[in-house]
Amino acid sequence: MTRRVLAVLALAGLLTGSPALAADGAKIFQLQCKTCHGAKSTPMGPSLAGVAGRKIAGLTDFKYSAGLTAKAGATWTDANLDAYLAAPGKFAPGTRMMTGVANPADRAAAVAYMKTLK
Ligand code: HEC
Repeated sequence: MTRRVLAVLALAGLLTGSPALAADGAKIFQLQCKTCHGAKSTPMGPSLAGVAGRKIAGLTDFKYSAGLTAKAGATWTDANLDAYLAAPGKFAPGTRMMTGVANPADRAAAVAYMKTLK
């Protein structure tokens, strides 16, 4: 329940950047993202350091799919990160990243955590 309230606040932009939410997101990241996303880009996935506010598919050291590259004109805003994690293949048809985060509260936490990655 608390997490749901937090998620709603976070989505409203009131709590994004909240340390508690980001700490939740760090746990989710360890479990669900870290196998493919490290501090540096690997063939498994691009680095997410500084991803918030960056151009979509914007790194030169990772070979993105045509699906995600088609979105390259846009920026990773909170809303775009949320939409991609909610349904990667819907946000960017043909993206190589198959799994997202179905639970909205967990997703808000994951987005808050990504904003701490510099
Ligand atoms: C099985 C490997 C894998 C897992 C697990 C994974 N990703 Fe990804 N992710 C990728 C790949 C591969 C891409 C590049 C997709 C493409 O080129 O279409 C990507 C791209 C991204 C991008 C866009 C990066 C950019 O530079 O534009 C974000 C944001 C992202 N992932 C977040 C996450 C989060 C958050 C999680 C955990 C909830 C996660 N990913 C889990 C493989 C993975």
